[in-house]
Amino acid sequence: MPFLHSTTQRLQNLFSSQPNFKSTSTQSTTSLKHTSTTTKNGTMSAPVVLILGSGPRVGAAVSKAFAAIGYKVAVAARKGTDAKTDEGYLSIKADFAEPKSITAVYDAVKAEFGAAPSIVVYNTGSLTPPPDKDSVLSISADRFTHDLKVNTVAPFVAAQEAIKGWATLSAGAKVFIYTGNALNKLIMPVPMMLDVGVGKAASAYWLGQADGAYSANGYRFIYADERQPDGKMKGLALDGPAHGTFYTQLAKSTEGIPWNATFVKDQGYVSFE
Ligand SMILES: NC(=O)c1ccc[n+]([C@@H]2O[C@H](COP(=O)([O-])OP(=O)(O)OC[C@H]3O[C@@H](n4cnc5c(N)ncnc54)[C@H](OP(=O)(O)O)[C@@H]3O)[C@@H](O)[C@H]2O)c1
Repeated sequence: MPFLHSTTQRLQNLFSSQPNFKSTSTQSTTSLKHTSTTTKNGTMSAPVVLILGSGPRVGAAVSKAFAAIGYKVAVAARKGTDAKTDEGYLSIKADFAEPKSITAVYDAVKAEFGAAPSIVVYNTGSLTPPPDKDSVLSISADRFTHDLKVNTVAPFVAAQEAIKGWATLSAGAKVFIYTGNALNKLIMPVPMMLDVGVGKAASAYWLGQADGAYSANGYRFIYADERQPDGKMKGLALDGPAHGTFYTQLAKSTEGIPWNATFVKDQGYVSFE
């Protein structure tokens, strides 16, 4: 399709033409250990990770990385099956365009594993190409609202549910990770990126506020944004396993990691401020 081809080309050109960002790596390379979660009634069990919006790229790699360090894994998406996968993950069917569906997802996790998720990954992203490819304002209000719900309202509800669950857990890491991109910092002149950029920027704001408000309680809210080594947006070269590595490092320790966690494959957190 000529439109999709030209849009992809424009995105590739934009990713490769962004200015360089200053880079300061503060990555530490502690090894990961098997951990456990203790509920407030004293029950000990393997910790649980919930991945909201899991598909073949980031979601699959993050699931695999957490399973490898002993987590029970629950994944949710529209193609969820409400059954166990071959890998032993709990697969839950949900559409985050209806943010209330999030509560049922948490209920299903607790019913299956007997504990709330200590690590929550909100990974879904939603965008709508404008019907007039040159006019950013040709996206309908209905689609703009749909994408805002998926990119911002549903993860906000997921964070509300996460802290309710964390209050029932007495030990271990408690981290909410939102898969972001550079659009919270960068206004990219590509009409099809409008809704995803609006959603990422709005979510970065509430994540930053939540992290400031709750980090003293040991609760962290992280906007995770994979970048190229020179700080440019990762875009089409997004790396699933790099997300798995970084997210499991966050589960081990968030010390020295700010809420706006730009990261680079094989380096971990890197500041581009
Ligand atoms: N750092 C960067 O530069 C960069 C670049 C590209 C992407 N990203 C971000 O990376 C994230 C994940 O990307 P990915 O495509 O690789 O992930 P993925 O894990 O391969 O797929 C995410 C899954 O989310 C599910 N999903 C979509 N809409 C949904 C909805 N309304 N309700 C429930 N589930 C939904 C889809 O499954 P179903 O169809 O089954 O629902 C999809 O397979 C996104 O947030 C994206 O914005 C960042």
